[in-house]
Order: sequence, then C-alpha cells, then structure tokens
Amino acid sequence: MKQKKTIVITGASSGIGRATVERFSQEGWQVAATMRKPETSSDLASLPGVRLYALDVTDERSIRLAFEAITNDFGTIDILLNNAGYGAVGIFEEATPEQIKRQFDTNVFGVMNVTRQALPLFRKQRKGKIVTVTSVGGQVTFPIYSLYHSSKWAVEGFMESLHYELAPLGIAVKLIEPGPIKTDFYGRSQDLVQTDIADYSTYMKTALKNSNAAGEEAEGPEVVADAIHRAVMDDSKKMRYPVGKNAANLIRLKRFLPHAVFFRIVRRVIEKA
Ligand SMILES: NC(=O)c1ccc[n+]([C@@H]2O[C@H](COP(=O)([O-])OP(=O)(O)OC[C@H]3O[C@@H](n4cnc5c(N)ncnc54)[C@H](OP(=O)(O)O)[C@@H]3O)[C@@H](O)[C@H]2O)c1
Repeated sequence: MKQKKTIVITGASSGIGRATVERFSQEGWQVAATMRKPETSSDLASLPGVRLYALDVTDERSIRLAFEAITNDFGTIDILLNNAGYGAVGIFEEATPEQIKRQFDTNVFGVMNVTRQALPLFRKQRKGKIVTVTSVGGQVTFPIYSLYHSSKWAVEGFMESLHYELAPLGIAVKLIEPGPIKTDFYGRSQDLVQTDIADYSTYMKTALKNSNAAGEEAEGPEVVADAIHRAVMDDSKKMRYPVGKNAANLIRLKRFLPHAVFFRIVRRVIEKA
C-alpha cells in the first residue's frame, strides 16, 4: 500500500488554514492541523487523517514540542504550510511599538521559526516542500497596511533567497499569494491601529472602509486551499501562485505600468469617498 503523505499546517483554526485542512483530508492525506488553541477546533479532529496540535508560531518551545509529537504520530513530514498570520491595519505613525513588533514576530519570525524546525528533517530525507501563504500584498502595496506589507515583503524575500540553498537538497519553496479572501482576516484577527491624530482621521476612515469592503466582497478561502493543493502537487520549479480575483492581474499591472500610474489606480480604489 502506498504510504500516505503528511502535511503540517500552521494557523489551522480558521479561514485559509481550516479550508486547507478540510481539502487535504478529503484528498486522503495525513494532516497535522496546528493552532494556538486546539480545544476551540475539536470538530476538525473528527475529519479523516486529521490530528490537532498546539503550536504558537511566536513560541519556539511550542513549535519544537508540536514537531516532536507530529513526527512521532505520523513518522515523517512531507509538506510544511506556513499559513498563520494576520494584518495590523492603520496609520504607521500611530502604531504602538508592541503592534509593530507583534506583526513581525508572527508574520516574519514565526515563519522563520517554524521553517527552521522543519529543515533538519527535510534535509535528512532529501525531500520536502515549504509552502508559505504570503499575499498579493507581498508584491504590491495598499494604503494603511504598511506594517502588514513590510512583513509579507520580508517573507517573500526570505523564501526566495532560501530556495537557492535548499534546492540542491531536494527541498522546494512555494509561495501562495492570495488577493482579498473572505475570512476572519478582516474581522477578529485584524489588529486595528487607533487613530487619534486629526490629520489622518478622514484618510484612515475612508481607506479602512474601502479595504474592508474588498474583503467583504471577496471569494471564500476554498480557492486558496485549491491553489495550495495545486502548489503541493506541482513538482515543477514554479515558485509563485497568485490566487483570487485579479491577484495575478494586480501583480502584472504593478510590474509593467509606470509606478505613478499604478499608484493612481490604487488611490482611486482605496481613497474614494
Ligand atoms: N484573507 C485575506 O484576504 C488574505 C489575503 C492574503 C493573505 N492572507 C494570509 O493568509 C493567512 C491566513 O489568514 P486568513 O485569511 O485565513 O485569516 P484568519 O481566518 O484570521 O486566520 C489566521 C490564522 O492565523 C492564526 N494565528 C495568528 N497568530 C498566530 C500565532 N502566533 N500562532 C499560530 N497561529 C496564529 C490564527 O489563529 P487564532 O485562531 O488562534 O487567532 C488563525 O488560525 C495569513 O498569513 C494572511 O496574512 C490572507
């Protein structure tokens, strides 16, 4: 009988992570669904092949313990999906040092911490894929997301460079770049920077309304789960997988239009009254 493959998913409690757990379970995979509070997602544990593990990407001990338990339970790991992340949203001047740090602790150092935990195993087996959910916002920027974009641009650069040293060891790097997707990203997960400075108040109100509207009108997380499955099954050298309405077009427009023209388009959408 063919050995079942194992995927480890971070941030599996909701949105894209949760949809991906469901998708890989349906495909007959062994799924290590990791999250900060497994007790709140116990329904996932009843899906075929799925086991839950406590893992906070900002807590190195919890990462180590989760990986020990996962390799004990499943024997090996084939795919790491770095998915956990959130957006700090607001005016940069008004963000607290704690908000800035937490954004990078989770979205950047969290990805590095978890990846570093997987590497010795992937290197030993000369096989493995590191799939990371970055964002269209890892290539393009919008107003009031400066902290989020800088974190996702950091991860894009980190992973792109990392792929050179890992390729000779049989380890592949893939980046999933969703556009707006309707999840808790625009709700409970959003870390809203408080606006007190009058100079920014109208700008912030308008930009927040328009960018949250994009999330409201967006597709569900299943389209991203599909793209992740495609990336996992794709043994070609393709690295980037834009996903969602207009995601690929946006990246293309930014690349080929003069930047001043591109910025005018963004302003027209996000700053419209
Ligand atoms: N939705 C979009 O429009 C969109 C677009 C592009 C990229 N993305 C990216 O997609 C990924 C998933 O987001 P989503 O849209 O599915 O939003 P979501 O529903 O809010 O899910 C975010 C997940 O990340 C987890 N998380 C946050 N901090 C964590 C930590 N320190 N350790 C472990 N898990 C942590 C959350 O866990 P808790 O349940 O414990 O809070 C939750 O499971 C993120 O990296 C996000 O940046 C989203």
